[in-house]
Amino acid sequence: MATIDQTQQDAEKLAAALAAVKFVKDGDIVGLGTGSTTTFAIKELGKRVKDGLKITAAASSIRTEELAKSLGIGILDLGTLSQIDISIDGADEFTETLDLIKGGGGALFREKIIASLSKNAIIITDASKKVKKLGAFTVPIEVIPLAYQYVSDQINKLGGKGILRSVGGKSYTTDNGNLIIDADFGLINDPAKLSSDLNQINGLLAHGLFVNTTSKVIMSEGTDIIVFE
Ligand code: 5RP
Repeated sequence: MATIDQTQQDAEKLAAALAAVKFVKDGDIVGLGTGSTTTFAIKELGKRVKDGLKITAAASSIRTEELAKSLGIGILDLGTLSQIDISIDGADEFTETLDLIKGGGGALFREKIIASLSKNAIIITDASKKVKKLGAFTVPIEVIPLAYQYVSDQINKLGGKGILRSVGGKSYTTDNGNLIIDADFGLINDPAKLSSDLNQINGLLAHGLFVNTTSKVIMSEGTDIIVFE
């Protein structure tokens, strides 16, 4: 198995982030994702705000909100917004047809709301995230706790194998007070169909398959920036 050079990967994340931030302009409401790649973008936005850029933002997680505020970026209540001008977020996997798996960082529900509200939903990644078919990375699924067993059973019926996400021996809790099941469906031939099937399950708040929500993916590979749209 090829090992990924962390320094190279971070350089690619930074390059993709810098390329995406160039699309942000004065007056924009900016949706901010969660994760290490997005953190590079938020820090760059913070620098541009200090230099006079006038933006407001909606955050996809408590940690993103705290980081943005610490950098002087004004945060709006996501629940009050009808539209976001531009969003910048990462992904765990993407295909050239702009289907994604997201939620490795557990922020998938708010990330999906932000992507759905965004006129221009930009995903930024290093080259390791590009795949021919989604599914080597398990699909994160946010579940209301009292529906845990029911949703697990429905995932099994769809051919998935779910594992309750845990951290330090305790079940992981999202910013919304829910659980995450990481579900292995093998390689996914039809992400739209699986997305639609998962959306039918009561008690399932959100899943990490993002289909038809992305405007473009900006991927950095070595010294190149490659845009998929
Ligand atoms: C968080 C996400 C992240 O965008 C995804 O996990 C990628 O993270 P990173 O940029 O750290 O590789 O979906 O819920």
